[in-house]
Amino acid sequence: MLSQLPTFTDPNILVGTKTADDAAVYQLTEELAIVQTVDYITPVVDDPYACGAVAAANSLSDVYAMGARPIFALNVVGFPAGKLPLRVLTAILQGGADKVREAGASVVGGHSIDDPEPKYGLVVTGLVHPQKVVTNAAAQVGDDLVLTKPLGLGIITTGIKGEQASPKTIDEAVHVMTTLNNTAADAMIEVGVNACTDVTGFGLLGHLHEMTSGSGVGARISLSAVPVLPEAWTLVKKGICPGGTKRNREALAGKVTWAPEITDEGQLILCDAQTSGGLLIAVPKPKSAKLIERLQAAKTLAAARIGEIVADTGQIEVIP
Ligand code: CO
Ligand code: CO
Ligand code: CO
Repeated sequence: MLSQLPTFTDPNILVGTKTADDAAVYQLTEELAIVQTVDYITPVVDDPYACGAVAAANSLSDVYAMGARPIFALNVVGFPAGKLPLRVLTAILQGGADKVREAGASVVGGHSIDDPEPKYGLVVTGLVHPQKVVTNAAAQVGDDLVLTKPLGLGIITTGIKGEQASPKTIDEAVHVMTTLNNTAADAMIEVGVNACTDVTGFGLLGHLHEMTSGSGVGARISLSAVPVLPEAWTLVKKGICPGGTKRNREALAGKVTWAPEITDEGQLILCDAQTSGGLLIAVPKPKSAKLIERLQAAKTLAAARIGEIVADTGQIEVIP
């Protein structure tokens, strides 16, 4: 879709629309570039404060995925004024503001419109050294792939909407979605990696496909190595699955080779549309043990080596 729009050729654009990266990067000086991204979502859980925190963690994540540090943010709000009490909006914005503060950044304004369905997210601006930008388009053959949060959030939030998820599972999913990717990004910057993306709406394999096609490589993933929230398996086996997850799998048809042992449910888990998922990092193999050690020391929710980058076959191979 974007390919039909006019292209911009300002030489200071370090990361723009040529690749499917998480955020735009614009060089200001030899030593400084700004990173900017916008993201907004519809509510994923009932609690408005938690919704705000999830949306903010999700928006901040695209800055962390570029190896950058967020400095300030603007709210983007759609709200059905007159249909929902204003205290709901206040709680959403409070959840977002507290999360941005936790990230060491500030909310400095925003814009709202009357909208029948509530929506919330942020424009986030960050800073990075121009030579230290981490894109999703520089993975190298032989890199290990490391994931920093468990999968299953799309299936679980669909279960929550259908009142099929236990209170414990709801708490766990909110905890995962409101956890910032800041410490994972710190570990990745310290160790030095080749590529990174966060795992959100296109699911693990959709975002991995953006990375492999952008980098001109292939990948192999082992399902048993991928961290998954246990109740996501229970729910998907009952047939609970968001439409977006099924569309992700369809969009990858012909691009993924599934080993015969991978069940329908396993395929859906790997394509599950995440909100505020973890970082997917391509790290040179000699550094991957150090990265995992640093992630574990930072207590990230997962620190799993889930596969590797292989020579370009135009395919992602999924093995048990
Ligand atoms: Co992203
Ligand atoms: Co995003
Ligand atoms: Co990126």
